[in-house]
Amino acid sequence: MTVETETVEQYLASRRKLVDAVLDRELPPASTPPQSVHEAMRYAVLGAGKRVRPIIAIAAAEACGAEIEPLLQHFAALELIHTYSLVHDDLPALDNDDLRRGRKTTHVVFGEALGILTGDALLTEAFTWLATPIDGIDPARQLRALREVSVAVDSKGMIGGQVADLEAERAQEHGGDRAALMRQLEFIHENKTGKLLTASAVLGGILGGASGEQVETLREYGRATGLAFQIIDDLLDVEGSAATLGKTAGKDAAQGKLTYPALIGLERARAEAARLLGVAVGKADIIGGPVNYLGDLARYICERRS
Ligand code: IPE
Ligand code: IPE
Ligand code: MG
Ligand code: MG
Ligand code: MG
Repeated sequence: MTVETETVEQYLASRRKLVDAVLDRELPPASTPPQSVHEAMRYAVLGAGKRVRPIIAIAAAEACGAEIEPLLQHFAALELIHTYSLVHDDLPALDNDDLRRGRKTTHVVFGEALGILTGDALLTEAFTWLATPIDGIDPARQLRALREVSVAVDSKGMIGGQVADLEAERAQEHGGDRAALMRQLEFIHENKTGKLLTASAVLGGILGGASGEQVETLREYGRATGLAFQIIDDLLDVEGSAATLGKTAGKDAAQGKLTYPALIGLERARAEAARLLGVAVGKADIIGGPVNYLGDLARYICERRS
């Protein structure tokens, strides 16, 4: 039986607070030399992020019946990796954005060189957190969890997706086979965004004591939720505003990005996100557990306005 005592909004707010507290406590103080990079790391991370990836890990661990307190720093590491990817995504050589989380991007405030190094530092810090021993958890289990995260964000995962995203710019304008473009688009979205979200669900499961079967169900949940997440991000880029998004809207069309709305239109993109939500909710139901917000989280991801 599922006993949930908080609404999804309350759940998100309470878990976000836990994640924010760990990030603030565990990131090196801004006074640590060299101060510039530590200030920039804190600036990038401690902005108004939704913290979706650590919250998915928390929800997965809770669904498996785990006590989350000892795992929070490891789950917060996902936010460091995600923030590093945003800092680099916004650089002039990539998407060249000057607005993120409602304020100036890290490289605009601290300069491009420090923007690059801040991303590097966040990624490295994340693996220090992930590799920190956890009382009561078998090191072999923890190593398996850590490897899931590193593989998800390597050149065959998140970075591969980012490379494919850049290489696909203006691809649609050159025409070509629609089926091939669709395959390219799925590759981009599954990798640049889907893999880290999937790893978040899997990390939560493995550290939370999931069975092998549960881990695979969480992986399928993450795959569907992750792809839906990026389709919604594409839709918000078209339909949202900088004021609600906290980042520049209309950038994808301006940069000729290969996106769901660009390739199949708004309506079919929305329908695809709804289909994926159905898959994610089905997988969340299979996991069950006494406290299970995974389905609610997938719904929130698909209905969000920012
Ligand atoms: C934005 O991620 C970049 C994508 C991978 C789509 P989020 O929408 O999770 O951004 P924050 O962390 O809330 O700022
Ligand atoms: C970013 O995708 C994906 C990663 C950072 C890995 P986008 O380029 O669509 O993200 P936004 O729209 O700038 O947040
Ligand atoms: Mg990008
Ligand atoms: Mg971008
Ligand atoms: Mg986007």
